[in-house]
Amino acid sequence: MDLTAPYLPDLESIPAGLDLPAEIRRLKAERKAVILGHYYQEPEIQDLADFVGDSLQLSQQAAKTDADIIAFCGVHFMAETAKILNPTKTVVIPDMDAGCSLADRCPADHFAEWLKQYPDHDVVSYINCSAGVKALSTVICTSSNAERVVNSLPRDRKLVFAPDRHLGKWVMKQTGRDMVLFPGFCIVHEQFTAKRLAALKAQHPEAKLIAHPECDATVSQLADFVGSTAALLNYVERNSAKAFIVATEAGILHQMRLRRPEAELIPAPADSGCNCSLCPYMKLNSLEKLYLCLRDLKPEIRLEESLRVQALKPLERMLALG
Ligand code: 13P
Ligand code: SF4
Repeated sequence: MDLTAPYLPDLESIPAGLDLPAEIRRLKAERKAVILGHYYQEPEIQDLADFVGDSLQLSQQAAKTDADIIAFCGVHFMAETAKILNPTKTVVIPDMDAGCSLADRCPADHFAEWLKQYPDHDVVSYINCSAGVKALSTVICTSSNAERVVNSLPRDRKLVFAPDRHLGKWVMKQTGRDMVLFPGFCIVHEQFTAKRLAALKAQHPEAKLIAHPECDATVSQLADFVGSTAALLNYVERNSAKAFIVATEAGILHQMRLRRPEAELIPAPADSGCNCSLCPYMKLNSLEKLYLCLRDLKPEIRLEESLRVQALKPLERMLALG
């Protein structure tokens, strides 16, 4: 259970004209804080973060930081993961409402009921889930290491994969293992369709289509490369193509532009016709809210110790795989 009291960021308390980046840097030094930021954050937040990465890299950074305070610029399950790994540190998040459709649609009580159908299965859970779901899992994975995590489990074990059915299907294809899939999906990646992307590919025949494994299988099949946000970034950095159609949250384009300024980066359009594919949860965080959370050390992630200890086990099992 999350014991955090409701918190509304007091944006009006920010003095007009305040140099927010300078104030954030000052508060960060004063409080011995570290700012961790996901690739889907706004560029100005990424530019202020001490470390920008994907879910796996951020949990690895959280596991080894010696800062007193972690300001986690990402979504709730990411900050919660940092707290699971660092019970004595203060973990704050700019906006406590920054959830995730995968985590929110797989509440722990519902998941526990669903799992009763598969009592003899090991449970592999994508890190995009609550501490309650982690506590019910055998091992955690991210999109970077899902294949490795599944391959680490004995082949004679029956497996459940939750909560992202698309990532689960992708991992089944990569590993050749059958798994029972929880029917969750990401509202951002679900919007990309093979039909629209094939049309875009036809308009840009020189471009490589790269996709996150949270996309539907028809999109992954069409893609030249499928990988986590960090893997997509590495692909763009190392591949000699001059144009890329990027089928993931458009926040990643900021780092891609920094590494390949001359390349044409085309954000994949949603099927609705909208050209922006932004995660509404990730985008709840802002520079103003980051300033407030460092100033007031609120909102803070808190966890019941018994739940934290249970959720830590499958997470440590993942981290031990490297
Ligand atoms: P990765 O950071 O593992 O690529 O996952 C993307 C995502 O959707 C995070 O919520
Ligand atoms: Fe969750 Fe999708 Fe947003 Fe990632 S992009 S935080 S999976 S809703």
